[in-house]
Amino acid sequence: MTDPANALPLDEAARIALAAQGLDYAVLDTGGADGTAAGSPEAAAHERWLQAYHRGFHFEALSPEQLAEYRAALAGPRTVGVWDATAAEAEHPIATVASWRSPLSLGETAEGEARALEGWAISLVSVAATHRRRGIANALLEGELRAAQAAGLPMAMLTVSEATIYGRWGFGPAASIADLRIDARGLRFTAPLPSGRVHRVSTPSLRAVAPELARRAAQRRGGDVPQRPLHWDRLLGLSTRTAARANALRAVRYDDERGQTQGFAVYSLAANPRDFADHTLTVEYLCAATDDALVALWHYLLDQDLVATVVAALRPIDEPLPWMLADPRAVHTTGRREHLWLRVLDAPAALTARPYAVSGSALLRVSDPLGFAAGDWMLEVGSDGAATVTAASARAAEHPSPGTPVVALDVAELGSLLLGGTSAETLHAAGRIAERSPGAAAQLDTLLRVPRAPFLSYWF
Ligand SMILES: CC(C)(COP(=O)(O)OP(=O)(O)OC[C@H]1O[C@@H](n2cnc3c(N)ncnc32)[C@H](O)[C@@H]1OP(=O)(O)O)[C@@H](O)C(=O)NCCC(=O)NCCS
Repeated sequence: MTDPANALPLDEAARIALAAQGLDYAVLDTGGADGTAAGSPEAAAHERWLQAYHRGFHFEALSPEQLAEYRAALAGPRTVGVWDATAAEAEHPIATVASWRSPLSLGETAEGEARALEGWAISLVSVAATHRRRGIANALLEGELRAAQAAGLPMAMLTVSEATIYGRWGFGPAASIADLRIDARGLRFTAPLPSGRVHRVSTPSLRAVAPELARRAAQRRGGDVPQRPLHWDRLLGLSTRTAARANALRAVRYDDERGQTQGFAVYSLAANPRDFADHTLTVEYLCAATDDALVALWHYLLDQDLVATVVAALRPIDEPLPWMLADPRAVHTTGRREHLWLRVLDAPAALTARPYAVSGSALLRVSDPLGFAAGDWMLEVGSDGAATVTAASARAAEHPSPGTPVVALDVAELGSLLLGGTSAETLHAAGRIAERSPGAAAQLDTLLRVPRAPFLSYWF
């Protein structure tokens, strides 16, 4: 059994669409909190499902040890498969998707209160190469969205292998990331050093504190979906997949002047065989729950003898690091791309939940080909930052009160705007949203602006 919180019923329309192709659509029994018992028929079925998703992503087949670990680690999510009874190995699924309820951080109010919204995290979407491009993913995705909406979840979210896939189901890019390369040789750090202390620690020692620190770090911004335990095991070299790397991983932790741990970094080093003073330090993960922790950890990572280059993937696009250095050009952005995608299912719930820094109003005329979030939504934010969203009457939508900005947009663009990760002006300039009143995009931006760019620090 899946974790009961994730046990949403299968979508009947998707079942019918797949059955029309002679395909079976079912949820697997993954055994609840502890996973399935080794050797049981349920365990064997879960293992075939895990191998199918690995094959779908072109990963190597899982070893028996990895299978045992994954069965336990992936027991909680709702684990859906599609089977083709006419295939040579018919017991192996030809499509997979796993999903679970999860909070999504929405950032903090002006008073520092963290806001979050429960959504439906979707992952491990794969269709076998033998069955692709015949609408199977379409049935699965629509089924996931209908199931989530029927369960009252206002939002679905995912990270994507390709940016061309999910827009068609109303997902919009909502948070981006930057990959950095820093020339560390001769770097001068100008940010004042905090009075706490960086401690060298073993990587396993972080296992107990990392999730809570990450939760605190993440709640300062929108865009975070809490990591599952396997993420931390992998990062810290404690999973079967990463155990071979455990000796290469180094870790530090930052304790503030009161001795409270406020952040940590995990990193590895690679030597240049031709020049021993040309090591590359790779930041595997940097987590800072306070600004001081961020400064202290960056200072430590950049201030290493024999290291000429520091690389860090998956950092926030408004990473403060360049502002800590005498030479901001030492920080090169080697990659920048959308990372978290959101699919709004309930526009009033999503818009009401997020924090606002200023009062104001806007009329959002949202279209949604799948129907979930379509409507004319009047967003009103009071001086206390509290928002109300009501369905505007047809008359009010056509004749809004003077001064109320009106924009028309698709649900995917609503997902892109929700966390403040992109501006309405940008989407307007790209022809992705339409102004129905002069200057509406800029006015909407005033309302939706956030102090820190939304950010998701890993893939799920
Ligand atoms: C991506 C994937 C799940 C699509 O499965 P599928 O069953 O072939 O998709 P469907 O046949 O339902 O296609 C639905 C629509 O998406 C489009 N589409 C599917 N895969 C696409 C891709 N990789 N890029 C762009 N468009 C894609 C189809 O052309 C179709 O468009 P249409 O509705 O305009 O005709 C499958 O190709 C796959 O498993 N890829 C490898 C693993 C992967 O990347 N998974 C996604 C993880 S985020």
